[in-house]
Amino acid sequence: MTCVDDFRLDLGGKQYIPLMVGGMGVDISTSRLALEAARLGGIGHISDALSMSVTDRLYRTGYLKSRTLRNRGPLNDTNQRDVPFDLGELREATMLHVSKTMESKRGPGAVFVNVMEKLTMSAPRETLKVRLDAALDGGIDGITLSAGLHLGSLELIAENPRFRDAQLGIIVSSARALALFLRRARRVERMPDYVVVEGPLAGGHLGFGTDDWQQADLMTIVREVMDLLAKEGLSIPVIPAGGIFTGTDAVNFLERGAAAVQVATRFTVTKECGLPDNVKQIYLGAGLADVEVNTQSPTGYPMRMLKSSPAIGSNIRPNCETLGFILDAEGHCKYLDSYYATSDDPETGRKLPVIDKVCLCTHMNAFRVYTCGHYVYRLKETTRLEDDGRYHLPDAEHVFWDYQFSQDHRIALPSTRSETALA
Ligand SMILES: Cc1cc2nc3c(=O)[nH]c(=O)nc-3n(C[C@H](O)[C@H](O)[C@H](O)COP(=O)(O)O)c2cc1C
Repeated sequence: MTCVDDFRLDLGGKQYIPLMVGGMGVDISTSRLALEAARLGGIGHISDALSMSVTDRLYRTGYLKSRTLRNRGPLNDTNQRDVPFDLGELREATMLHVSKTMESKRGPGAVFVNVMEKLTMSAPRETLKVRLDAALDGGIDGITLSAGLHLGSLELIAENPRFRDAQLGIIVSSARALALFLRRARRVERMPDYVVVEGPLAGGHLGFGTDDWQQADLMTIVREVMDLLAKEGLSIPVIPAGGIFTGTDAVNFLERGAAAVQVATRFTVTKECGLPDNVKQIYLGAGLADVEVNTQSPTGYPMRMLKSSPAIGSNIRPNCETLGFILDAEGHCKYLDSYYATSDDPETGRKLPVIDKVCLCTHMNAFRVYTCGHYVYRLKETTRLEDDGRYHLPDAEHVFWDYQFSQDHRIALPSTRSETALA
């Protein structure tokens, strides 16, 4: 019987196990997790979301402190913030995160970075260019362009010396979005090296509406994307993502011409994942009824998360002087609108819960948005309960090997003593 290991991904003249661990910001897909995927011969992602906060935490830099000091002033009660990012600091932070990760890389696989266009950071074009250039200059193997159409992204880095040697890919949720991107890519005569097709069951932000995601189907979109590429005479690896929960799910796509698969939710509960352990237990304990696709994200994209996410209904004061990663070019974020439109409780004088948007920067940074793929409720099938009633957290290696070798939808449980039961 066929398993993922019977296939290989050919990319940039190299061969990989056709498994990509998707980017999960903010530092949910840690360097450690990405490096494990690379060590095992696949492709792992770090994310550059809130890179200054991530490097402050990991390498004791002081980027956020310096940003806060620079922007300190009277707190203005308006729904706008004029708090630009220091591009030099942004470059330093991104380079540090990327180069430290790449220095530790071992094994035959690759480490890519997930770069979300929707992190507009008060100056969308300028900050995106800095982030992309810094990732390339920091030695990243590849960049996955996500959360946005990225129509101008390739042009921004066309002068970078690594523009043609690094792997550059895009995440799309429709053939239409890919067609628009390809048209712009032709201008710089640089086609993407791979296309991730993210379906409606993925975690994070979705490229579907809150009411139509149920009608969309990953296999259909993958076929439409393949048809488009064939029509355009392009031979570009297509990598489906979203709801691929077992090795057999992956094989179903690989047998139909996919070059690899991108997965994430199964890795959220691994030891190497950046979520705090208590949040991993919440993911493991979740049921289907606990999951929703909502419009809480101020980016304007629907997002899948657990209903119990502490961010929902929080009335935290906007923290753009320090974070502010979602501010647009006018210093605007939809959470600011909601926050200032929410009145105070007449009895306590305290602000009432902000119900329609979450402060995504603050809460993602503190792991209080429990974003997850649709099949989060199946995670409990992938491990065992310990004597203390908590779920055992598997190693990333165990989950990787389970995808790589499992057949017939079987999921190998990690042994509590040794994770290498599958080896
Ligand atoms: C916790 C979590 C965070 C995510 N964050 C991001 C992100 O920052 N950027 C992105 O492009 N995709 C993000 N995703 C999507 C994944 O990279 C991946 O494409 C998708 O979740 C795969 O589907 P699966 O989770 O069902 O395996 C996230 C997914 C999860 C579960």
